[in-house]
Amino acid sequence: MDISLREITENDTPFILELRNSEFVKNNFVIREQFTEQSQKKWLDSVVATGKAIQYIILNDNLPIGSVYIRNIDYTQKNGEFGIFMREDFTGKGFGVVATKEILKIAFEKLKLHRVYLRVFPDNLSAIKAYEKAGFIKEDLLRNTVCIDGEYKDMLLMGIVNNEK
Ligand SMILES: CC(C)(COP(=O)(O)OP(=O)(O)OC[C@H]1O[C@@H](n2cnc3c(N)ncnc32)[C@H](O)[C@@H]1OP(=O)(O)O)[C@@H](O)C(=O)NCCC(=O)NCCS
Repeated sequence: MDISLREITENDTPFILELRNSEFVKNNFVIREQFTEQSQKKWLDSVVATGKAIQYIILNDNLPIGSVYIRNIDYTQKNGEFGIFMREDFTGKGFGVVATKEILKIAFEKLKLHRVYLRVFPDNLSAIKAYEKAGFIKEDLLRNTVCIDGEYKDMLLMGIVNNEK
């Protein structure tokens, strides 16, 4: 299984926009607004370039198949929030687990974070299974924590701390 991560650049914007705006990906995220060239440039310039987030392109045999990131990085408390999205035709092959483990390695060994957490919709079973395989533990159910299209939804909080790898 040839999976590797490389740092995102502005040249990846068309790929990110197509993937993140697809129904398959968008419906599993809290933020449902269309990603645009402008919003992506703002994110890269003001969040990624300043170290508030790290983001990578997931490559399978050098072909971009998804993206993985840690945002809201708190260098004082040493934690951050994980996220991932992949092309639907490359899911279910174990690639998500490998990419997750790779970015956790970067988070713990390079960034020296202590804890990485994530929020996922409780019905996103493939994501939850992939996260558990990568070492995340279910921590809590956040009841009615987000409002989407006028409806409050629960989210599952999962986390991993450095010594649990
Ligand atoms: C979440 C995501 C990254 C997972 O990646 P992936 O490569 O499909 O995950 P993996 O193949 O590594 O693992 C998924 C596991 O869930 C299993 N699975 C798939 N559908 C399932 C279902 N309906 N119920 C239970 N398990 C399921 C798979 O069989 C696999 O387990 P296995 O390895 O034991 O067979 C990918 O599906 C994705 O990008 N989804 C859209 C965006 C998204 O949901 N992002 C996360 C938002 S929090």
